[in-house]
Amino acid sequence: MLKKIKKILLKKNKKKLVCLTAYSRNFAKVLDKHCDIILVGDSLANVLYGMRNTHKLSVNNMIQHSISVRQGVKKALMVVDMPKGSYATPKQAKKNAKIILKKTKCDAIKIESNNKNFKIIKEIVEAKIPVMGHIGFTPQFKNKFKVEGKNNLETKKLIQESLLIQKAGAFSIVLECITPVTAKIITKLLKIPTIGIGSSSYCDGQILVTDDILGLSGFYPKFVKKYVNLNTVIEKAVKKYSKEVKNRQFPQNKNFLYGK
Ligand code: KIV
Repeated sequence: MLKKIKKILLKKNKKKLVCLTAYSRNFAKVLDKHCDIILVGDSLANVLYGMRNTHKLSVNNMIQHSISVRQGVKKALMVVDMPKGSYATPKQAKKNAKIILKKTKCDAIKIESNNKNFKIIKEIVEAKIPVMGHIGFTPQFKNKFKVEGKNNLETKKLIQESLLIQKAGAFSIVLECITPVTAKIITKLLKIPTIGIGSSSYCDGQILVTDDILGLSGFYPKFVKKYVNLNTVIEKAVKKYSKEVKNRQFPQNKNFLYGK
């Protein structure tokens, strides 16, 4: 088993896992020191490309961003999202997972669950590619945002789904927008770590979209904490640059490459 995966598994019930998304080298470099897992999430469709959903992203889109992220990740476990439509059959899933792994040198891939694709996870794991599962609100399969696990039937379904994902061989599982009670039960039941997003502190770890916590995305639902407003910081710097260019304060002699 990959050393980095073992390290993640060993943290279950001991230390919280810190996870964030990255789509480029510069961001990844800053996150690497502080994160257990860096995810090249297909949320890049909304966050970077301004798409309405994640459905149109291709394997190549994911590969391009992952190659950039790889350059900034040394310590953390790097996980890449398989885009919608790239794992419709076990054969297609295995082929695309292998391509992603080979071209990006990532450590693992993530697959959203549709409560049916357990065999696909099993096939990829058997091909020695570590898989992270994803249940609850799964944007590739559900268009309408909804908190899950609010009644007994939903809770039972989510528990069963998580157990089947674990049985298929996944090394961890994202719980997205699941009620605290259900997230607590699943986290207690599973041997693999649960990574929550909008699913309470009962999970073994937390993940958020980096652009959201930095105040860059303009998307701040209740489960997001904005740690800084980078939009304001960037605008201030750009405004100063603009003023200095217009006033001929920039560039100065010290910025010349040659002569005066
Ligand atoms: O695509 C993504 O960024 C994700 C996380 C929000 C878990 O799947």
